[in-house]
Amino acid sequence: AFVFQTGKDLALHAAQIISRLIRERSDLGQSTVLGLPTGSTPVGTYRELIRLYDEQGLDFSNVIIFCLDEFYGIAKDNPQSHRLWLAEHFFNHVNVKQENVHCLDSQVVASDIELHCRRYDDLIQGAGGFDLVLLGIGRNGHIGFNEPFSMRKSRTRLCTLDPITRQGCASDFFGESNVPVQALTVGLSPILAARHVLLLALGEHKAAIVTETLEGVISDRVPASYLQEHVDARALLDLPAAGLL
Ligand code: GLP
Repeated sequence: AFVFQTGKDLALHAAQIISRLIRERSDLGQSTVLGLPTGSTPVGTYRELIRLYDEQGLDFSNVIIFCLDEFYGIAKDNPQSHRLWLAEHFFNHVNVKQENVHCLDSQVVASDIELHCRRYDDLIQGAGGFDLVLLGIGRNGHIGFNEPFSMRKSRTRLCTLDPITRQGCASDFFGESNVPVQALTVGLSPILAARHVLLLALGEHKAAIVTETLEGVISDRVPASYLQEHVDARALLDLPAAGLL
């Protein structure tokens, strides 16, 4: 784990890791496939990436983005839609090609969910798998919307949100009862198959789960704990999030 004095230092470091990867791969004429989260944690990292684009011409034209998850059933123009969120906080501000942005469809009809998810996995695979997955972490150890007891071999799928997750989203939806019950998420299997993983955590409220994730038993009870077995998963933490390590 890498511990930073401030969230800004952390964001700068995460953005540098991502930009270096993009540059290295584009020097080799290769695209970079990123799995990206929403949430408050990665906001600073996206801001730094946008700054690198504006100030240093970091080129995203060969970057392929997959949004890691989406609430199921919400309207496409709902401000909590992960596609809209990621557009607003990141990809609208850089030269990513629209055709290289992939998001799960909150409105896919029930009978097409399985097909939609298989296609999403196929798209990830077809692009060569994830070069890097950026992750936040839920207070219950979820990554993407892979809630506790998700199988390590899980693929992209519809899942039921954990009560802790729905509580955490309550203010965004003006009350817990408005928070969707289900979500679509990229499975643990494609995430764990990524060549590089960056897990970000900010704040004291993440300290307990960060410790369980990094130092606890590897178990489906804490899906993020599977990252202990990954060959290149790095946790980037601010001081409060690292407080119980
Ligand atoms: C959300 C997202 C996750 C995110 C997590 C933490 O529910 N599905 O991808 O990492 O919760 O959110 P935050 O960064 O706001 O703490």
